[in-house]
Amino acid sequence: MTEKIRKVSLYKLNYVLVVATLILILSYFLNNYNRVSILESSSTSLSCSSSSKILKYWSICINEWNPNGNLRTMNRVFDKLGYKFVNASESEEWDLLWSIEYVERNEETFRATRKSLLPHQRINHFPGIHFITNKKILGKHTNSKHLFPTFSFPEDENMFNEFSKTNPHAKYVEKNYDNRGVRIVTPDEFDKNNDEKIYQVFMDNPFLIDDHAFDFGVYVLISSVNPLRIYRYDHEVFIRFCPEKYHPFDPLNTHKYVVDENHLSVYVMPSFKNLYNKYNYTAKSIFEFLIRKKGYNVKKFWLNIDETVSDIISKNENKIIENIKHEKYENSHHFFELVRFDIILDNYLNPFVMEVNMSPNLTPAKKKHEKYTTVYEQLVYNTINLVGAGSYEVLMSRFTNDTISVNSQNIATNLENCLENTCQLNCEKSSCAICIPCISSNILFHLNEAYCEHIRKGNFKRAFPISIHFNNTELFETLSENNQIMIKWYEAKCENDESWC
Ligand SMILES: *[C@@H]1O[C@H](CO)[C@@H](O)[C@H](O)[C@H]1NC(C)=O
Ligand SMILES: *[C@@H]1O[C@H](CO)[C@@H](O)[C@H](O)[C@H]1NC(C)=O
Ligand SMILES: *[C@@H]1O[C@H](CO)[C@@H](O)[C@H](O)[C@H]1NC(C)=O
Ligand SMILES: *[C@@H]1O[C@H](CO)[C@@H](O)[C@H](O)[C@H]1NC(C)=O
Repeated sequence: MTEKIRKVSLYKLNYVLVVATLILILSYFLNNYNRVSILESSSTSLSCSSSSKILKYWSICINEWNPNGNLRTMNRVFDKLGYKFVNASESEEWDLLWSIEYVERNEETFRATRKSLLPHQRINHFPGIHFITNKKILGKHTNSKHLFPTFSFPEDENMFNEFSKTNPHAKYVEKNYDNRGVRIVTPDEFDKNNDEKIYQVFMDNPFLIDDHAFDFGVYVLISSVNPLRIYRYDHEVFIRFCPEKYHPFDPLNTHKYVVDENHLSVYVMPSFKNLYNKYNYTAKSIFEFLIRKKGYNVKKFWLNIDETVSDIISKNENKIIENIKHEKYENSHHFFELVRFDIILDNYLNPFVMEVNMSPNLTPAKKKHEKYTTVYEQLVYNTINLVGAGSYEVLMSRFTNDTISVNSQNIATNLENCLENTCQLNCEKSSCAICIPCISSNILFHLNEAYCEHIRKGNFKRAFPISIHFNNTELFETLSENNQIMIKWYEAKCENDESWC
């Protein structure tokens, strides 16, 4: 009996072993089959853009002048972020274009930007940014107390005569279009038959550090127009010193008042070099230290800079919006712009804008400037993140309306006001404009963007709109409805949380 049972169970055991072996063999084949099919599908998804999660970066520099590559820093950062390099001139698909040159010129090169753009596609220049970055156009067409009066001839003859009557002692610098050959000239030296030359009022009481005049470069990111949102890079500034001491002044010696390729960098200047080279402080924090020591209020200084930057950009916002329409783009959502404001500070630290650089140099051109590499990489990295191009999920959320980073509950604010005015039934009231039942899908898009930018701003600080614009009724009246609503929303956010002010 027991023998029989053993036989049966042995038989059963054999049977189990055979089955198990069969399963093992089968699963081996299945596994390999799976592995093969995974490989196949991943390689197809790599080449098939719609299912791939890899972003595509298209870069263009037509006139390469930096021996180390104008785009070196951008290329490095995009590579680190896992972007794949593409050439949309050869009909490859693209997600983000970074160009050194204007996109609305050079139609042939930028043909791929002229079709209807996909919602997530981004371009690093606004069509029409030349209203700000072309110094002749800026100086002549933007009425701002932060710009030096600028003339070119023969067209500005009358304007100049008016100006010189009321400002008989003004000094002038002559500039060529390409920034070479800047020098102080008297009005009788003006070349009035060459409209390539511009004449700008010269500021003769610059703020000095270590007895040297300097220019103060501030990086500024415009992430949107209509409504306008501007950010200032708050981590570092680009300070360049004139090669010789300002006093005793000599108009014939341009080394005293011109910043060109002979300029001195912060790390050789007595007030900076130890703190910069040994303690690794930023030039910005050392500059703040120096002016604080002289009794200036650092916070006020930066508010003044933000006001200057905002004034100049907002006065050109409409021209940019018109240009986007003129160039037949469906909307302005695709564009962003990183510029450098080159500012001169007077003896009281009042800022005057010399020019605004489109495509500021972000790659050290000389070996001795290599130590700026990290500064530039961080600036580009912060820029890409802020505009929402730092990862696949974030860039694509414009397509998918993914609520992982923002939904209407992040936008809802101003509770007492919305309730008191029963806005749900009274959307025509102006006080209801930012209450969720009254927000149009267009405004909601912009508030979503504004919210996400605030979260992703990194080392940027918002320069427009900020608290100084909330109660500025004179400015408010001049702004478009989109801008007014945006300002009201920031103001409401700011009431609950100071970081939004
Ligand atoms: C991209 O393609 C265009 C057209 O074929 C070509 O002229 C250009 O040199 C290419 N750019 C790069 C960076 O390869
Ligand atoms: C400080 O900066 C210098 C020069 O960039 C660098 O070599 C050094 O490693 C930095 N110090 C630290 C602690 O990172
Ligand atoms: C995302 O929202 C926009 C605007 O409301 C809408 O047109 C679009 O169809 C939505 N996309 C998806 C994938 O739901
Ligand atoms: C703006 O004005 C309102 C009402 O007059 C006031 O409560 C608020 O504090 C002001 N905000 C700022 C930033 O000055």
